[in-house]
Amino acid sequence: MEEKYEPLIQGILDHGYGTAPLFFDESLIKGLRENLLRKRSEGMMHPAAIGKRFTFQKNLKVRGDLISWIDEHNPDPLEQQFLGAIDAFVQYLNRTCYTGINGYEFHYAFYEEGSFYRRHLDQFQQDRGRKFSVVTYLNDDWKPEAGGELVLYLDGGEQSICPEGGRVVFFKSDEIEHEVKAARRDRLSIAGWLKAV
Ligand code: OGA
Ligand code: MN
Repeated sequence: MEEKYEPLIQGILDHGYGTAPLFFDESLIKGLRENLLRKRSEGMMHPAAIGKRFTFQKNLKVRGDLISWIDEHNPDPLEQQFLGAIDAFVQYLNRTCYTGINGYEFHYAFYEEGSFYRRHLDQFQQDRGRKFSVVTYLNDDWKPEAGGELVLYLDGGEQSICPEGGRVVFFKSDEIEHEVKAARRDRLSIAGWLKAV
């Protein structure tokens, strides 16, 4: 159990972010990828709203992903399994780090080839409750040449992370600026936030 969480938590303590290559089972990742692609083909994914001051056109200059929020009441067994694993992680985090997390929100994200998300922080004025960001990649057989890196801007410099399927990245939402680089293929993930509200 603890071995699974420690790279994520210790990583934040040591250098501002944690990452783990195979945090979720391959079968779960595959199933969630199929979910995302189904939602996409059914037209269930939509551009994210960034803030009241932004128009749709301005949004597109900042981020081009399409999202679909995960509803915790949806009986989909894969989403239940995903959120169950998040629950277990949150319990561990609260027990060992006194983080006081009492909620979360997650969405599927589809970055069509060429889409990006410019450098940003995940905590907006309307979203002060976001404490930790958790990104899970759903990509099958991602090659570094495809681009699409997550770039984290850390005190010690920039860190690029390849969005390979099953990898999880964990960092503080109000501290770490980051960016999603454009990719040469569609890029699939679940982004989410652990909240204390
Ligand atoms: C986000 C985000 C990172 C990624 O959705 O806010 O920064 O690698 N995602 O997809
Ligand atoms: Mn972000």
